[in-house]
Amino acid sequence: MNEKLHSSTTNIDEKRQGEVFSSAKSGAGNGKRKYYLETYGCQMNFSDSEIVASILNKEGYESVSDYKEAEMIFVNTCAIRENAEQTVRNRLNELRSIKKKKPNAIIGLLGCMAERLKHKLLEEEKLIDIVIGPDAYRELPNLITQVDGGQAAINVLLSREETYADISPVRLDTNGVTAFISIMRGCDNMCSFCVVPFTRGRERSRDMHSIIKEARELFNNGYREVTLLGQNVDSYKWKDKKTGQLVTFTYLLEQVAKVSPLLRIRFSTSHPKDMVDEVLHTIAKYDNICNYIHLPVQSGSSVILKRMNRTYDRNWYKERIESIKRIIPGCGISTDTISGFCGETQEDHNETLSMMNWVEYDMAYMFKYSERPGTLAQKKYKDDIPEAVKSERLNEIISLQLEHSYKRNQMDINKVHRVLVEGVSKRSENELYGRNDQNKVVIFPREKYSSGDYVNIMVNRCTSATLFGKVVA
Ligand code: 5AD
Ligand code: SF4
Repeated sequence: MNEKLHSSTTNIDEKRQGEVFSSAKSGAGNGKRKYYLETYGCQMNFSDSEIVASILNKEGYESVSDYKEAEMIFVNTCAIRENAEQTVRNRLNELRSIKKKKPNAIIGLLGCMAERLKHKLLEEEKLIDIVIGPDAYRELPNLITQVDGGQAAINVLLSREETYADISPVRLDTNGVTAFISIMRGCDNMCSFCVVPFTRGRERSRDMHSIIKEARELFNNGYREVTLLGQNVDSYKWKDKKTGQLVTFTYLLEQVAKVSPLLRIRFSTSHPKDMVDEVLHTIAKYDNICNYIHLPVQSGSSVILKRMNRTYDRNWYKERIESIKRIIPGCGISTDTISGFCGETQEDHNETLSMMNWVEYDMAYMFKYSERPGTLAQKKYKDDIPEAVKSERLNEIISLQLEHSYKRNQMDINKVHRVLVEGVSKRSENELYGRNDQNKVVIFPREKYSSGDYVNIMVNRCTSATLFGKVVA
């Protein structure tokens, strides 16, 4: 079963929650020590890899795009579901051949799986030299030195302060148009199914000024869209020590929007318990804050939501959706669902389907429940839904979502959409792709346009994943 199941199958959406983001690219041949960095998992991991690359480059190491050329291979890992970890284990098996050919090569495991398994990884995977958690990346050069001295090295200390605010990320695999900005780290929510609070530690927000500076620099370098990233962006809270001002997410959003009307702003992820109307009004007020909200529901059943410790119920969630639709008419809405959580009955599952029918999401990331060691659910509840039932329910959810995505996309036909061009379409050299305000991928004839341009597209057909159209003046 695919690790990431969602209704949309474009290359771009895969990039959002995808498997491998791949490595930093650059030239070679100047005698610098070469590294290859690959990334699995979420946008946050991708953003972290940009920080890691920055730390390594500053130290004088050089990234290469072919791992076979590298003397150091770093794998930034994800632990959110069991199959995410399995993907990494399989990759490690492939890397064994490198170690055989080059016994001095350094293999480092970064990120959430490193944090979760700590020393166990060094014991289980004999080929690993470095294990380093998400809050310890500044220590990576020291760990490399330690390995050079003949010792395996580990640092999985979590921090209450680290936000890497002062580090200017190196943009990896970039299209030169869209970029991520990490605005906070960690999570305090303790959803019972989730390993993130254990692997990424306590929630902390990054200095607002450093975020705005990063957005401004990106804009000056030609970028036209930034996505503000956090596990729960609505609870962004930062105190300006100079002025004493307590900055909220709404205020931050507004300040980033003011960088330039030509810079589009997106953000992810919102939590239904914290998403306030104030944020929605700010989105409505600024044209350059995209009308798109990712609001994970996880389940449509209040009983399951309680067991998941999501701290909202079905009615609360519906009320939030009503607010979005009222304050931002035409807003794109997407979600995450989990099928087969502990004790989920057929009625609970039906409630998820009925929630989907009520909201009619534009897009969804849909998962089967995967028990994670150490989580509240693993300690408290039995993972008692048979695999076949989980799959059956998931498939039902996917089919329904495909219908909704198609229906929602059809509603975009014969309308003009403002699209930010991101690059040449994978399907054809003569076509470009970009996204509309609602985060939908739009494909259209290339003509004279290029990446970073805003173009108005009249949409004339669609699939459940993509809109197609022509440029209008
Ligand atoms: N099993 C399945 N899905 C999970 N998610 C988080 N933890 C698990 C788990 N143990 C999903 C949630 C979350 C998304 C990022 O991953 O839907 O919103
Ligand atoms: Fe995990 Fe819940 Fe935090 Fe998201 S909000 S990272 S699902 S604990």
